[in-house]
Amino acid sequence: MTQSHQLSVQPLLWTGHSLKVLDQRALPQTIVYDEYTDAEGVAEAIRSMRVRGAPAIGIAAAYGVALSALSHYPKPDWQSAIKIDIDHLAASRPTAVNLFWALDKMRAVLHQHPSDPVSIFAKLAVQIHEEDLAANLAMGEHGAKLINASVNVLTHCNAGALATGGHGTALGVIRSLHQRGQLKQVFADETRPWLQGARLTVWELAQDGIPATLIADAAAAWLMKSGQIDWIIVGADRITANGDVANKIGTYSLAVLAKQHGVKLMVAAPSSTLDFSLPSGEHIEIEQRTARELLPECYLETESLVSAWNPVFDVTPAELISAIVTERGVAVDPGINGIAHLQP
Ligand code: MRU
Repeated sequence: MTQSHQLSVQPLLWTGHSLKVLDQRALPQTIVYDEYTDAEGVAEAIRSMRVRGAPAIGIAAAYGVALSALSHYPKPDWQSAIKIDIDHLAASRPTAVNLFWALDKMRAVLHQHPSDPVSIFAKLAVQIHEEDLAANLAMGEHGAKLINASVNVLTHCNAGALATGGHGTALGVIRSLHQRGQLKQVFADETRPWLQGARLTVWELAQDGIPATLIADAAAAWLMKSGQIDWIIVGADRITANGDVANKIGTYSLAVLAKQHGVKLMVAAPSSTLDFSLPSGEHIEIEQRTARELLPECYLETESLVSAWNPVFDVTPAELISAIVTERGVAVDPGINGIAHLQP
C-alpha cells in the first residue's frame, strides 16, 4: 500500500476559522501563505491562481463556503448571503468541474436548512479534502498496476500534492511507480506560459528524491522520437461522458505526438473530475486568461500593438487516450470501451 504523501508544504491549511493558502505564484523561491477569513478572498485566491489544480480549487471553494457560514450565520437572511458567496466562488474559474462539484455538495446542505450550519459546512469541507487525498492514494495504485514494466514517464503541468488534497493524481501514479521500483525517470514539460512544470512539478518531485528532468515544451516531440518515453501521465480538469479530457494547454499536442510515436497516454483524476452532464469535450468552456500572462515583459507597455491568444486548457479526444484512472477503477481505451462504468 502506498504511503500517504504529505509534502512539508501544503497548498491549503484549514485552521477552523480561516483558510491559509500557499501562494503558488511565488514558488519555488518563496514559501508564503495568505490567510483568508471570507469567501470573497478565497474566490480571489482561485482567480489569481494562488491555489490552482482542479481538485485543490474544489477543496478551497468548499472551505470558502465554510468561511461564508462563519461570516454570515446567524445574521438575518444568512442563507441568501451564503448563496451569493457560492455564486462568487463559482465565477472564479470556468474549466475545472471539481469547483462546481464541491460547490454543489455545499449547496445541497444549504437546501437542507441545517440547524448548525457553521460546523456542518466546516465538517463537509474537511471531508471533501480528506476524500480527495484518499482518492489520490487509490488511483496511484490503480495506475501503477496498469504499467507492468520499468518505464520512462513524461508529465505535463503540475498534477501533484500541490494541485490536490495531497499526494497528487498523475504524480500519485508516478509516486506509486517509484515506490514499486518501476520508475526509471520522469521528464516534466515546463508548461508555458505559467511554468507549472518548471516551478512546481520538478520541485515537488525533487523533495521526494524522484528523478525528474525538465524539458522545454517544444522538446517533447524529439524526446518521444528518440525513444525515451514509454508513458505520458497527466491529470485532468474535466472528463466528459464520452471520455474526452480537458487538461492544461499542450496536453492535446502531447496526445497527438504520443499516437505518432507509439507512446501510451494515461489520465489520472478523481471521480469529482467526471462530468457526465456533458456528452463530449466540445461543450467544455475553455478558460482564456489575459494576454499579459503570455506576452514577454518588453511588450507589456505596448500591449495594444502586440496581441496574444491565451487559452489555458485544451481537450484531448477519448480515442487518443490509452487509459483513464480514477479511485473507482480504470477505463482502458476509453474511446472504444467508454467510461460509463466509472459513473458514481
Ligand atoms: O491552470 P492550472 O494550474 O489550475 O491547471 C492545472 C491542470 O491543468 C492540471 O493538470 C489539472 O488541474 C489536474 S491537477 C490534479
